[in-house]
Amino acid sequence: MRLDIITCLPELFDGPINQSIVKRAQQKGLVEIVIHNLRDYTTDKHNHVDDYAFGGGAGMVLMIEPIDKCISGLQSKNTYDEVIYLTPDGQTLNQGMANQLSLNENMILLCGHYKGVDQRVRDHFVTKEISIGDYVLSGGELAAMVLADSLIRLVPGVLNDESSALTDSFQDNLLAPPVYTRPADYKGWKVPEILTSGHEAKIEQWRHDEAVKRTQERRPDLLG
Ligand code: ADE
Repeated sequence: MRLDIITCLPELFDGPINQSIVKRAQQKGLVEIVIHNLRDYTTDKHNHVDDYAFGGGAGMVLMIEPIDKCISGLQSKNTYDEVIYLTPDGQTLNQGMANQLSLNENMILLCGHYKGVDQRVRDHFVTKEISIGDYVLSGGELAAMVLADSLIRLVPGVLNDESSALTDSFQDNLLAPPVYTRPADYKGWKVPEILTSGHEAKIEQWRHDEAVKRTQERRPDLLG
């Protein structure tokens, strides 16, 4: 999987996206993340990427020209399955969408800023608009990192234990059951006996029942 991320704040991607699972995925050559600084595609001497909104109002708007230059340049060299714009008015990300998108090979992620991007970018370049939740971030960068992380861990070979992603919360519309590790008794707080019984089938049943119970209590909306 290759992700081309377009941003006017490339420094933000020096952090979490290069750690842990995502870092290993890149080192193993399973995932390539390429960050593009929008300012590198400007033509004026001050490298402006934004301008005032036509019709007035507070807030700046990202201009179409640098975005066009960047996206068109990428599209002349690679084919992309999606051009995704991160925006609070997009479709809310969920595990089903992450599963679907993780099957793609190449994607462009466009991070908005200020008041967002010129609508013509959305009309002519963007193929999918995604929000990571009903709250407004100061830019699309954190949203792009959240989306990237949710996709990368689903790429075959990225997680050490292949079955692990399948047992995550939301994979089957159920939250994950409680988990325990050693010691089996800590200050008298005991691990449920069934988990140390060795009865595989009974343990699976217990996990399923606990997952249903937890979902009923915390997220009944998932059960429909
Ligand atoms: N940009 C600003 N807020 C956002 C959100 N909630 N999701 C995606 N992109 C955003």
